[in-house]
Amino acid sequence: MPIDLEAIRRLLPGRYIDWRPSLPSTMIEASRLSAAGCPHGAVVGADVQTAGVGRFGRRWHSEPESGIYMSVVLRLPFATETLPLVTLALGLAVTESIQKTTGVACDLRWPNDVLVGGKKCCGILAQWEPPAIIAGIGINVNHPSFPDDIRNLATSLRIASGRTHSREQIIVGLLPAIDTYCGILEAEGREPILRMFSKASSYVAGRRVAVDQGDSELRGVTDGLNSSGFLLLRDDHGKQHQIIAGGVREN
Ligand code: BTN
Repeated sequence: MPIDLEAIRRLLPGRYIDWRPSLPSTMIEASRLSAAGCPHGAVVGADVQTAGVGRFGRRWHSEPESGIYMSVVLRLPFATETLPLVTLALGLAVTESIQKTTGVACDLRWPNDVLVGGKKCCGILAQWEPPAIIAGIGINVNHPSFPDDIRNLATSLRIASGRTHSREQIIVGLLPAIDTYCGILEAEGREPILRMFSKASSYVAGRRVAVDQGDSELRGVTDGLNSSGFLLLRDDHGKQHQIIAGGVREN
């Protein structure tokens, strides 16, 4: 079923929300909207994406009318260095709203994967497009299954819980949660976000992981986050590394 946009608008009056039956990627449309001067918090969503993008230029599987595919234009007074913290704040917002509206318990894998039962059910892509940040969020809500190439890595809230969930309710919980966590970052700085992310994520400390660095792979045990929001990793020789980007997986 297509999303019930009117139901969302009724519960979030005053919020600019543009929702299309189909888009190549909501990131492209949100960039356009941002360049045209849309307000802070404006949302572009689609019931299906024909060219959804993930991190590192990967494709984002966008099953029709089953997931939440949306981009939010954030106009916040943050310097470029704050972008990693915004990513963490977005992860906290997604986790909280999924847990509150569906009762499904989530984990966070640095920097921006939301996991359910060890598999990914949401990805976040934060793009710095001055003066805005475009926050792309993809949540696998009612996907019945996944293609072979990602079946072992991806899940949906439906697969994890054995029942379907209202995309509208998740969105109505998520947009105010994004405001809350970004507001905390703006008003109180990095420390509360670093603390809350570290508490909500089983990956931040004491977890044996491999980090894909493109041409090489780092292995070790996670050792917390630094003040920039980067992951610290202690390798088997005791040397500490700062992970700025890269795919983290359990090892
Ligand atoms: C990741 O690789 O984990 C990030 C995935 C981000 C996917 C979302 S879906 C909505 C928005 N539009 C896109 O094309 N990508 C993001």
